[in-house]
Amino acid sequence: MDRKTALIVGATGLVGGHVLRLLLENAGYGTVKALVRRTTGIKHPKLSEHLVNFDDPKSLAAIASADDVFCCLGTTIKKAKTREAFFRVDFTYPVLVAKTCEAAGAGQFLIVTALGANPRSSIFYNRVKGEVEEAIRDIGFKAAHIFRPSLLLGKRSEKRVMEGLGGAVFRVIAPLMRGPLDKYRPVEAADVARAMVTTALSGRKSAVYESHQIRQIARGC
Ligand SMILES: NC(=O)c1ccc[n+]([C@@H]2O[C@H](COP(=O)([O-])OP(=O)(O)OC[C@H]3O[C@@H](n4cnc5c(N)ncnc54)[C@H](OP(=O)(O)O)[C@@H]3O)[C@@H](O)[C@H]2O)c1
Repeated sequence: MDRKTALIVGATGLVGGHVLRLLLENAGYGTVKALVRRTTGIKHPKLSEHLVNFDDPKSLAAIASADDVFCCLGTTIKKAKTREAFFRVDFTYPVLVAKTCEAAGAGQFLIVTALGANPRSSIFYNRVKGEVEEAIRDIGFKAAHIFRPSLLLGKRSEKRVMEGLGGAVFRVIAPLMRGPLDKYRPVEAADVARAMVTTALSGRKSAVYESHQIRQIARGC
């Protein structure tokens, strides 16, 4: 079997950490490249970690060859402090990585955006997520897979008070959120990661997946 090469950005994050672990465990991938600004702290024979400066396209080009690219980058307006800084992490860096990897031969790009992503939204966050989706689709990958989770559940090293409260409230009302409300139900970050890796290995055509579809793929339905 020809084992594939995966490249991941955002591997030190919540979803990215799960994706990295799954890629390292999966026999379908022989090499996993993680492009990071700080180490993941993980040592594995399949893993090559590259400290990169995402503001320097040349530093990416030399290491961009891969079959499947997983993008789990992202920040919050609170952390980024300005809209410009947020845009850089959630739009500029993913598009730079996508273009560089496509030019180096990558066939598939898988990205986590968010529920409500829409390039014509009046809400800045949703608009940037929609714009990045549009830009990725236009690059011309054999397949571009877009994952739009609702609130993410999972253990973080940092405290996010609003997300924590949101998660607690949703856990109580989640059983009531069925049918058309299913896509608003919070989703485990681990399920998003599992859906991404499963999709990359499935040979499916380009598609968009919301939380209910992410859960189905993660459960193998
Ligand atoms: N939180 C939610 O409930 C939620 C809901 C829907 C969608 N999303 C979206 O889902 C995606 C993944 O979310 P997550 O919670 O897994 O993210 P996360 O835990 O905050 O991780 C974000 C990743 O992006 C990297 N990053 C952030 N700023 C960077 C910068 N300036 N330069 C280079 N790398 C940078 C981080 O690296 P460092 O570790 O070095 O900072 C980390 O690897 C994001 O796009 C997010 O917007 C989140």
